[in-house]
Amino acid sequence: MGKNFTKSPRIVVLTGAGISAESGISTFRDQGGLWEKHDIMDVATPEGWRRNPSLVLEFYNQRRKQLDEVIPNPAHFALAKLQKHFQVDIITQNVDDLHERAGATNIMHLHGELRKVRSEKIPSLIYDTKHWEVKLGDTCERGHQLRPHIVWFGEDVPFIPLAAQMVENADIIFVVGTSLNVYPAAGLLYHAQYNARKILIDPNEMQVENIFQLRHFKEKAGDALPRVVDELIAEFSA
Ligand code: APR
Repeated sequence: MGKNFTKSPRIVVLTGAGISAESGISTFRDQGGLWEKHDIMDVATPEGWRRNPSLVLEFYNQRRKQLDEVIPNPAHFALAKLQKHFQVDIITQNVDDLHERAGATNIMHLHGELRKVRSEKIPSLIYDTKHWEVKLGDTCERGHQLRPHIVWFGEDVPFIPLAAQMVENADIIFVVGTSLNVYPAAGLLYHAQYNARKILIDPNEMQVENIFQLRHFKEKAGDALPRVVDELIAEFSA
């Protein structure tokens, strides 16, 4: 299936909230998802931040606090295992740290990271948060308020050009647990080489079935990804 490889394939994995669902972290658009409980405009936009920064800080504090109560699932560990056998870049829309905690590397967080905050006035001043709570009055070294290091709706996604280049150069592309609803991340799949092998893992119907060389495993990531990773390792070690 897909192109024949003379050398070890370059692999890119695009992940979304679905890969962390089995760890207990809500997705955004499933039944009971985050955007059912919170108004995007209030908690994930610059306007919301200007209007009520405490509400925004509290939204991310609660999500950051949850990180201490969840652990990576078999899907995260499967990607860390894949990286032991191939050159694999992980491009994630997730802001959790579960890929890292599963031992994966080469991780690009397109939409930022919960465990980081930054100066609201000097974006280059980025800090790891040791504590889950960030409050009004917590400031950067230059005295400006700290904000979540998250890409909000309407803000630039600085890593997109590099991510697109990685997809263009990939021989195999995994798309795991993303509804492909939010651009520009959702557009990355369309940068893939025509005959690159594309593997979609998502239990729900997706509107991408007509893409050449795409195979859809309609299963949960925690079930399908360990199996698919083992099959790929076997294919190239034969
Ligand atoms: N395994 C695999 N996929 C799953 C699982 C699972 N166990 N559970 C749910 N899914 C799938 C859903 O079918 C859906 O297609 O994960 C996807 C989750 O989609 P969204 O909730 O839209 O999450 P995501 O695509 O990551 O959202 C993208 O939107 O709100 C912004 O910045 C936010 O990064 C986020 C972006």
